[in-house]
Amino acid sequence: MIVPKGLLDGHVAVITGGGSGIGRGTAHVLAEAGARVAVVDMDGAKAEAVAGEIGPAARAYPVDVTDADACQALAGRVHIEIGPASILFNNAGIVRRAGLSSNTARQDWEDTIAVNVNALFYMTHAFLEQLKATKGRIVNTGSIQSHVHTPNSVVYTTSKGAVKNFTVGLAAELGPFGVRVNAVAPGLIFTPINEEGIQKKPEALERMMRHIPMGRHGTPEDIAGPVLFLVSDLARYVTGVTIAADGGYLTV
Ligand SMILES: NC(=O)c1ccc[n+]([C@@H]2O[C@H](COP(=O)([O-])OP(=O)(O)OC[C@H]3O[C@@H](n4cnc5c(N)ncnc54)[C@H](O)[C@@H]3O)[C@@H](O)[C@H]2O)c1
Repeated sequence: MIVPKGLLDGHVAVITGGGSGIGRGTAHVLAEAGARVAVVDMDGAKAEAVAGEIGPAARAYPVDVTDADACQALAGRVHIEIGPASILFNNAGIVRRAGLSSNTARQDWEDTIAVNVNALFYMTHAFLEQLKATKGRIVNTGSIQSHVHTPNSVVYTTSKGAVKNFTVGLAAELGPFGVRVNAVAPGLIFTPINEEGIQKKPEALERMMRHIPMGRHGTPEDIAGPVLFLVSDLARYVTGVTIAADGGYLTV
């Protein structure tokens, strides 16, 4: 992918889940476009590794985004150490596919809502004043499951549906401040989040693949491109939308 140099010059991007998969790929692309990047991940070693790959334009922040106070502290540190955030990519997420009859169902529900939903609020709230001051841009990571269901994933479907509606509500509320809010809805992207599931249930992978008109799974760069568009001035009149990047999964 050819990244337009200078598209994000002067921007400070905060990326949650930046230590792996889609967050890692997007951190690289936004930095290549000129942004300084805060790589936020509860796995501090992974965050450090990604910041190290990018170089001086990046800094690692080991933070659990389900901790509201830690998000507030992070916002203060980013402001002082990098500058006021103008881009927030709320991307950290988890998936549990045990099904509602499983004896882990209640814990799965609470853990999933904590990361995939509550943390979006904590991070957005913590960075709100910086984003208003910079007329910033927020992108949330939804999923094809913001729109449809896949087996044994009621809580994940619920959480990603909430991401879509959070995006709509927030876009309306922050529009008057010049802050744009959008979401990206990835299809099947090969990252560590689904490695175990794919190994355990190869038939689920085959079913997904048959459902993708473009005939291939996605890569983190396939998501980083739409995110780059949404946070850049190319999308300056785009707000409140969820853009699918799924090889056509939602068309059939
Ligand atoms: N990979 C896919 O097929 C796919 C499809 C649709 C949506 N998504 C979404 O994309 C996002 C990124 O997923 P990915 O595929 O890159 O997965 P990944 O597992 O590779 O990366 C997720 C990162 O989030 C971090 N994280 C998890 N909980 C956290 C917390 N409480 N605080 C801070 N960091 C935390 C993890 O440490 C990890 O580094 C998620 O929201 C996921 O739901 C992924």
